[in-house]
Amino acid sequence: MATSVRYLLLSVFVMAVVVVPSTAAQSFRPKALVIPVLKDSKTLQYVTHINQRTPLVPLKLVVDLGGQFLWTDCESGYVSSTYRPARCGSAICSLANSDGCGNCFSPPGPGCNNNTCGVLPDNSVTHTATSGEVATDVVSVNSTDGSNPGRPVTVSRFVFACAPQFLLKGLASGATGMAGLGRTRIGLPSQLASAFSFNRKFALCLSASSTFEATIFFGPGPYTFLPGIDVSQSLAYTRLYVNPVSTASAFSSGEPSAEYFIKVNSINITDTVLPLNKSLLNIDSGGYGGTKISTVNPYTVLESSIHKLLSDEFTRQAAARNITRVAAVAPFDTCFSTQNVLGTSVGASVPWIYLNLEGNVSWTITGSNSMVQVSDNVLCLGFVNGGSSPRTSIVIGGFQLEDNLVQFDLATSRLGFSSTLLGRQTTCANFNFTASVS
Ligand SMILES: *[C@@H]1O[C@H](CO)[C@@H](O)[C@H](O)[C@H]1NC(C)=O
Ligand SMILES: *[C@@H]1O[C@H](CO)[C@@H](O)[C@H](O)[C@H]1NC(C)=O
Ligand SMILES: *[C@@H]1O[C@H](CO)[C@@H](O)[C@H](O)[C@H]1NC(C)=O
Ligand SMILES: *[C@@H]1O[C@H](CO)[C@@H](O)[C@H](O)[C@H]1NC(C)=O
Ligand SMILES: *[C@@H]1O[C@H](CO)[C@@H](O)[C@H](O)[C@H]1NC(C)=O
Ligand SMILES: *[C@@H]1O[C@H](CO)[C@@H](O)[C@H](O)[C@H]1NC(C)=O
Ligand SMILES: *[C@@H]1O[C@H](CO)[C@@H](O)[C@H](O)[C@H]1NC(C)=O
Repeated sequence: MATSVRYLLLSVFVMAVVVVPSTAAQSFRPKALVIPVLKDSKTLQYVTHINQRTPLVPLKLVVDLGGQFLWTDCESGYVSSTYRPARCGSAICSLANSDGCGNCFSPPGPGCNNNTCGVLPDNSVTHTATSGEVATDVVSVNSTDGSNPGRPVTVSRFVFACAPQFLLKGLASGATGMAGLGRTRIGLPSQLASAFSFNRKFALCLSASSTFEATIFFGPGPYTFLPGIDVSQSLAYTRLYVNPVSTASAFSSGEPSAEYFIKVNSINITDTVLPLNKSLLNIDSGGYGGTKISTVNPYTVLESSIHKLLSDEFTRQAAARNITRVAAVAPFDTCFSTQNVLGTSVGASVPWIYLNLEGNVSWTITGSNSMVQVSDNVLCLGFVNGGSSPRTSIVIGGFQLEDNLVQFDLATSRLGFSSTLLGRQTTCANFNFTASVS
């Protein structure tokens, strides 16, 4: 065990030098990068586009905030003159944290080579994982000055994993893999930061729109949205935690989770504090409990006792405003008539929910992120019951993230969050995707 750990650390150190020169031929060094994101209205997944291969092909990938790396189907017509499988024992294998060595018994080609190392690509929507070859190929992404996309830049040896076609089952129509933004050395944030020597920071700004593109930025701010609002200037910060036990569908023992955890200390509805069982809010030694952020859960999922306290107190305060509870509409159990609910710039006028986070900061959830309109007359509280002993007590999901910018700083383990941008007269779909001439 001890020798294998030393070997890995040494290889990682060497690798940091190997990865960087892959872009050395380019004299232009971007300050940051931007990729577009759209919500798939059928699956409620968030989908991005990244160009890969030689010649470049646009890949449609489901965004997986806690995913370990980029994986794509190499079985269906992968054609590229720059595809390179990772040979066993190579620096790329160490970077990918892969000590397995694989052979393949189908015709050779991308995803099927002998003496290559493998990882476990994970479809986190269906919780299915399988083994796949580690490889590198060209990836191209647009640079940005924070206000518009700029010229495209390429990473010539971007590390990813090949997956069989069946792993795509359950993903948005046309998606050919997942873009893992997790906390690993081959997650997109770390690879892009090291390729272009910028801080290991990225920001996610999701939108409910399936027409107007929302954004993910890699690198530091500004993150400017029309009409000229730099959201990076007004974030509140809390600590990011590492769950010591992997939350992937398949993993080796001792592997930490690549997902992003934060610490909720308490939850308020207006100024009433919910009497939560505090031990659910900590990550225990088995990796259970705590709070994470996820883009593959369409709505926030709460452990059942937390869910009940939230629903009951919300219903009580709604009743005090003459808002009537009506029959449940799955997957929600707490629904209301729209009668007596006024509209405001930050969504339906309902009691606000506050997640009080480590660092004495509160994430404010207004009607725009708490109420899901399920029909003309019915609004439901957009939190679902996760049962009595889920792996993670609070999973903050996509609906609660929409029109909120969240910035992940891997170097300082810090999460910046904006709460709703609607109160600041902008939205996550307000990035100006018209290229600037520079
Ligand atoms: C890998 O090696 C095995 C055994 O030598 C051979 O049968 C197989 O065809 C090889 N696979 C590829 C993809 O070259
Ligand atoms: C939460 O409730 C407590 C107790 O009433 C109050 O002191 C605190 O200000 C509330 N927090 C927020 C963010 O409203
Ligand atoms: C609080 O949660 C912990 C962890 O799930 C559990 O062991 C304990 O029984 C709970 N306490 C109460 C009072 O429900
Ligand atoms: C709720 O309805 C009752 C009866 O119609 C009315 O007296 C009261 O003022 C209403 N309360 C609010 C907060 O609108
Ligand atoms: C937490 O923040 C509130 C308002 O920002 C402030 O009044 C309070 O003193 C702070 N508490 C601590 C312990 O820093
Ligand atoms: C880069 O930006 C240009 C101009 O907005 C756009 O046409 C192109 O699709 C973008 N490329 C990618 C990969 O998003
Ligand atoms: C978007 O950016 C382009 C290029 O800089 C600029 O010409 C255009 O006016 C911007 N659009 C808006 C609405 O500001």
